Amino acid sequence: MKISKRHMAGAVGIAAAIGGIVWLVPARSIRREPHLQAPAHLPALARGLLKQRMARHAEAMLDITWRTLVLDYGGVAEACQPILDEPQLGRVSSESADVLNAELPARFFVLQSELRERTRLLQKVAPERDAGRLADAYGQLFRTCMSCHQIYAEFPPAGGPHGPRAPEHQSADGAAN
Ligand code: HEC
Repeated sequence: MKISKRHMAGAVGIAAAIGGIVWLVPARSIRREPHLQAPAHLPALARGLLKQRMARHAEAMLDITWRTLVLDYGGVAEACQPILDEPQLGRVSSESADVLNAELPARFFVLQSELRERTRLLQKVAPERDAGRLADAYGQLFRTCMSCHQIYAEFPPAGGPHGPRAPEHQSADGAAN
């Protein structure tokens, strides 16, 4: 069959339209991630270091979340490992860590250890194949993430780290500290 010019023009038009749709659809379907309120009192260097670390935590947590949700017990234990492999920020070590230390409240280091403990617990509980205990251990870990973010989300803007609403008094656990 001979393709007429009119058909050709129509086909080109349709192809262009599909191309346009294909080009538009991914842009529209990219999900916008909600963000933590920027911790304005942290210097750029500290923020940069933490941002990279947090991107890795977020990735690990997504993996842990989905595997928990579908009761992939072995997978949960595996997905915990990247958080456990993350080096702990010490109070004194490299120059960049010193900058961090100076800017981070003591509670940051407490929660950093808690994150490790709760990840380890989740990793230990997962192979027991008990959905209830798995859900609890997952919840505890998630609370630790939230507790630390709470330090930054709830600082009084003018009060600084020791301002009247410093969250040392109340964590996401609901427990007084
Ligand atoms: C010891 C404290 C601490 C713990 C624990 C912690 N975070 Fe964070 N997180 C921070 C700080 C501080 C920031 C802000 C960094 C910045 O952007 O300046 C942050 C930021 C983030 C962000 C970026 C948010 C944004 O606005 O882009 C993500 C995502 C994140 N954390 C995920 C996690 C997950 C998941 C966990 C638990 C597995 C976790 N964090 C545990 C301190 C912590």
